[in-house]
Amino acid sequence: MIQYQKEKGFIYLGNGSISYVLYINESGCLELLYFGKAIQLSDDDIACMRGYGDWASTYYDCADGKEKIFSDGYRAGVSRMELNSHGLWDKRFAPVVVKWQDGSFETDFRFSEFSSYEGIRPLPAPLPCAHGEKCETAEILLRDARSSLYARLFLTIFSDKDILVKSLVIENGTEETVTLLRAMSMQLDLPGMAYDLVHFRGRWGSERRYEANALHDGAQEVSSNLGRSSHEENPFVYLKSANATADSGEAIGFNLIYSGNFKFRVECGPFRSAHLSYGIDDEDFEWKLAPGERFVTPQAVISYSAAGTDRMSQNFHRFIRENLIRYRGEREYKPILFNSWEGCYFDFDTERLISYIDDACKIGTELFVLDDGWFGERNSDDRGLGDWFVNRDKVDLHRILAHCKQKGIRFGIWFEPEMVNYDSELYRAHPEYVLGRADVKERSLSRHQFHLDFSNPEVVENIYAQMKAFLEEYPVDYIKWDYNRTVLEHVSRTHGAERQGEIYHRLVLGYYSLLSRIAEEYPSVMIEGCASGGGRFDLGTLCYCPQIWASDESDPAQRIFINYNTSIGYPLSTIGAHVNDHKITSYRTKAMLALFGTYGYEMNPNMLAETEREELNEIAAVYRKYHKRVIEEGTLYHLLSPSEGNFMCMQAVSEDRTLSLVLLINKLKEADESRFLRLKGLDEKALYRNDWDGKMHSGAYYMTVGLNFTCVIFEEFSCRLIRLEKI
Ligand code: DGJ
Repeated sequence: MIQYQKEKGFIYLGNGSISYVLYINESGCLELLYFGKAIQLSDDDIACMRGYGDWASTYYDCADGKEKIFSDGYRAGVSRMELNSHGLWDKRFAPVVVKWQDGSFETDFRFSEFSSYEGIRPLPAPLPCAHGEKCETAEILLRDARSSLYARLFLTIFSDKDILVKSLVIENGTEETVTLLRAMSMQLDLPGMAYDLVHFRGRWGSERRYEANALHDGAQEVSSNLGRSSHEENPFVYLKSANATADSGEAIGFNLIYSGNFKFRVECGPFRSAHLSYGIDDEDFEWKLAPGERFVTPQAVISYSAAGTDRMSQNFHRFIRENLIRYRGEREYKPILFNSWEGCYFDFDTERLISYIDDACKIGTELFVLDDGWFGERNSDDRGLGDWFVNRDKVDLHRILAHCKQKGIRFGIWFEPEMVNYDSELYRAHPEYVLGRADVKERSLSRHQFHLDFSNPEVVENIYAQMKAFLEEYPVDYIKWDYNRTVLEHVSRTHGAERQGEIYHRLVLGYYSLLSRIAEEYPSVMIEGCASGGGRFDLGTLCYCPQIWASDESDPAQRIFINYNTSIGYPLSTIGAHVNDHKITSYRTKAMLALFGTYGYEMNPNMLAETEREELNEIAAVYRKYHKRVIEEGTLYHLLSPSEGNFMCMQAVSEDRTLSLVLLINKLKEADESRFLRLKGLDEKALYRNDWDGKMHSGAYYMTVGLNFTCVIFEEFSCRLIRLEKI
């Protein structure tokens, strides 16, 4: 899949479906000649693809006092580069910026060495990263022409999915300490700018709203400086050719295996090309790199499709399931989860929980989760965080565990490890454990809590010891890992002035060090990520947590957008989705929507009527029968987007194409009219029975004629779940 043609200077990555072609020009600059649908390039092709002729940049040769031209036509600002230098000919945004000890900023990266190998090597712990065997990696060493500063580029291509993983390491081989002012993971130069940039903005309760804007002159950014990947912008973004649909046109998706500040930047310059950079946000970023030290950037993941946005999504889904998520603890399928939060918030005791467990079992619950409120003095959200010992006056957790065991279900618990309330034993004992300068009069609060200084290993160790003591005493099966505020006052009292530019990143490393340690020491415990709803829905978290709570908003009026849009970048099996008991829409609609996610409940189960239990049990039975094969391991098709019309429709098909589930929800009431819904991904020749018209049709019929919804009246937020089974 990877070839290095030394004499010609080509580095070719291809998997038969996509190609990525690099060229080491005569000056040693690394150009990106092509990225897209698979292609074999001849020497003539390549000459024409470069073809900047007389336009080549010039330089003054200090040795012989002559003006020279880059003989092979390298044209700064036009040539598509793999990694821009900084402060020299090419003034486009460089992913790596260094400040030298004399105060200057230039770097001039030129090719030095090439090697390649099977597989993908892990990043140094605790950085999350991709794994897998069906891939090959090119490692390219670039050296600064004026010093021994190196950029080591890693490019991995997968053979079974159109995914590239890119990252770089900056190595200081000089004798001076340099300051990294920017250390992003990748650059990608595209020859044109006729694309829409799609990103997923939002806020609490309304995460991942679809937003598409045509690229325009100047720079556009999608970023977070909130210390987490955030509700406001998700790190998953994509470019699509102007008329691309779910199954036609070009789509190039990007994501970062990282949970902190990020920046995706596209710059369209005077030459009408698109210059992309992606990585850690450089706001307030300064990293000291002493001689011999290196800085490792997170991996960026690129999914390419020349056949529409669904192919791009499917690449990501398979990559996340097969090459990112490490948790392998689940048995047959993930258990149906009941979470206590919305049912009782902080207001519970042992008896109440037991009655919840009993009634939760009547709707198919297989895992009962006790959310916030079980520890310290935590009877409201203004106290207790940081004190991770059971409030024995409030709840007898041994009894709860024993009761779950007796009912034959599992038990899970909530933590928010990176936070502390000022009203807590931990804060009273260690006020220096929180972020922010010591001498301020006003320390920023959010939900009455401070952010612990996870850049300080002692703080991480303290929380680890508390969690460990709990987990040893209470053998839980699941942890919900919450994170309910952003990083403000990003100052650490553990580090000196020269290290404060490292705090944002060190906090993320602290998060990963604790998360990975717990995940590795308790491999059968499933950890679900969460951040005030879906504020940390990202690949870094997914590496250790197989699912993430997608939003505190569970009503379909909002959730159809959240789940549909999230599933463009992330597999359904990762999208934490529950049925709650807010009465706007029926349990039925909510359950069907949750089924196209992880499926669970979050309500007061004591209040359910018998008919409601029956309804929920019906969907729970569908979950048990279909979830693993169709939702978790199947292929997802986006049929109708709620951002574009009145309907939301998704279809999942099992890998062997014998089973399929179709979910159709409308927003407003629609009267009867002529409507056919064409399906996808079925075996054309096979016959499938569906439970909508109860008939048997061929795959070809479903895909060309479609399910007939003519003269069906769709009431507001009504839902259809159609099952297809191959005969
Ligand atoms: C925010 C989460 O999104 C909720 O599900 C719940 O766990 C609360 N935090 C608890 O404080």
